[in-house]
Amino acid sequence: MILVTGGLGFIGSHTVVSLQEKGHEVLIVDDLSNATTDVLSGIKQASGIRPAFEKLDLQDAVGVKKLFETYSISGIIHFAAFKAVGESVQKPIAYYQNNLGSLLNLLAEIEKSTTPIPFIFSSSCTVYGEADSLPINEDAAIKAAMSPYGNTKQIGEEIIVDSVKAIKDFRAICLRYFNPIGAHPSIAIGELPLGRPQNLVPFITQTAAGIFPKLTVFGNDYPTPDGTNIRDYIHVVDLAEAHVVALERILTGASNDRYEVFNLGTGKGSSVLEVITSFERVSGKKLAYTFGSKREGDVVAAYADTSKANAVLGWKTKRSLDEAVSSAWKWEQKIRDC
Ligand code: WQD
Repeated sequence: MILVTGGLGFIGSHTVVSLQEKGHEVLIVDDLSNATTDVLSGIKQASGIRPAFEKLDLQDAVGVKKLFETYSISGIIHFAAFKAVGESVQKPIAYYQNNLGSLLNLLAEIEKSTTPIPFIFSSSCTVYGEADSLPINEDAAIKAAMSPYGNTKQIGEEIIVDSVKAIKDFRAICLRYFNPIGAHPSIAIGELPLGRPQNLVPFITQTAAGIFPKLTVFGNDYPTPDGTNIRDYIHVVDLAEAHVVALERILTGASNDRYEVFNLGTGKGSSVLEVITSFERVSGKKLAYTFGSKREGDVVAAYADTSKANAVLGWKTKRSLDEAVSSAWKWEQKIRDC
């Protein structure tokens, strides 16, 4: 059984569907802090299979121990974490307690298990900060974290590196995502930010749905071709498929190294204005937006060098920016009935 922690979340739920499509049996553990069990029905609608589910806060060490005693877990994909950059600045203690406490409880069970369980860690390009050169490869310098959220990802990676060294035969892969967007083609699952969305694409689609009067573009005087900053927007289904490839790589012991890191992106940078143009093209709607001041902590540009994932995992993105933005809009129209 593959344990997917945070499996009711945006990337988690899409990864569960991709795992099921490849024949894997899935157990979702989620604390429901940022998702509801309605997502289970969405997953069933998308894949035809309702995964096993346990509500559990992974900070509960006794609960985690009981989970591993109850289920025969053969692999773990660990998404469960608080992930709002801005919120992490306001609530650093909760972020460190949850994001690192959960990880440590899982690793403690792996350390006790007779055969170490392969582990996929959900990390982020945020660990690179403002990279010295673009595109960003896995050997790029890890800069001082620009938020407690980003720091929990950096520290999480270090904890895993040390655990791989200490635990015989333990194998882990760390996946550093760029900017996941979009929704499953069935539109049975998608991105469901609770409250005011922090991220660009849900803000665009919610503005177009009439929830907000307009989008504020955070700065248009960056040193970029159109003045707005640049990111690598990856379709969430491409990202989900990469997780299955990575898990199967360690399940089969294909890798020589017991710890590997991969950047997961399209390899192409898109500016905020290019994403807006993409939305207007795929929706046929004009988006109301205005230019505002820069957002604290935003880097000018970040997009992935995907050559390692392409060569070693044999994985590359298949879906375009337009397809991702279009799927996000279809999802928004469905959930808002607009
Ligand atoms: C994208 C671009 C904004 C909102 C964050 C985390 C990263 C990962 C993805 C978890 C930026 C601009 C945004 C708006 C705007 N999360 N923007 N108006 O900040 O690149 O990455 O989310 O793993 O770790 O750091 O994503 O979608 O917030 O911003 O102009 O209302 O859109 O300035 O250039 P970001 P984002």
